[in-house]
Amino acid sequence: MTDQLDTRPVTVIRDAHPDDLPPILTIHNTNIAASTAIWDTEQVQLDERVAWFRDRTGAGLPVLVAAIDGELAGYASYGPWRTKSGYRFTVENSVYVDERFHRRGIATALLGELIDRARRAGTVHAMVAAIESGNTASIQLHERFGFRTVGVLPEVGHKFGRWMDLTLMQLTLPIDPD
Ligand SMILES: CC(C)(COP(=O)(O)OP(=O)(O)OC[C@H]1O[C@@H](n2cnc3c(N)ncnc32)[C@H](O)[C@@H]1OP(=O)(O)O)[C@@H](O)C(=O)NCCC(=O)NCCS
Repeated sequence: MTDQLDTRPVTVIRDAHPDDLPPILTIHNTNIAASTAIWDTEQVQLDERVAWFRDRTGAGLPVLVAAIDGELAGYASYGPWRTKSGYRFTVENSVYVDERFHRRGIATALLGELIDRARRAGTVHAMVAAIESGNTASIQLHERFGFRTVGVLPEVGHKFGRWMDLTLMQLTLPIDPD
């Protein structure tokens, strides 16, 4: 019997480090320019992503990346849903995959690990995904992990010359807040 070498690319999900911020910035700006996933219209500079990364990691919040054969293919994170203290057990998640790597299970791997991190942290009761209502890819992805649509805000966004609805999806995790 001949041993077969497995040459499939290996996807690694790991914590981000500062060297990952330039490719994270590229994915972020690509989504600003070409998609309704991020409701900004102006490109951001690296210092904005550096500040975001410092805020998240400084607060002990996860910033995860997916690397395929060393190349950054996507990232995911969660942060505060709203700032008032009563919302402290609620987070908003985000997941973005470089379009060259779409439909290879990268977002599934990232979101799965992100939810695991939230469970292990024990400080997240509600994880909210705020998704442009036409983004069926993201809605289906979140449904797979048990997120349920809890509301739709009609025409709260405007980009590319049209109104956008916002679908709010929620995953509730059991925690003891005391
Ligand atoms: C949404 C997104 C993160 C999915 O990333 P991905 O790595 O391609 O997703 P996966 O390969 O893990 O797909 C998981 C499931 O999501 C759904 N899905 C993913 N892409 C889809 C598409 N283009 N159309 C329909 N469903 C899709 C499917 O149910 C898929 O499972 P399947 O491939 O077995 O059918 C990616 O399309 C992306 O980065 N989009 C732009 C940014 C964005 O919308 N982020 C979410 C903001 S809320």
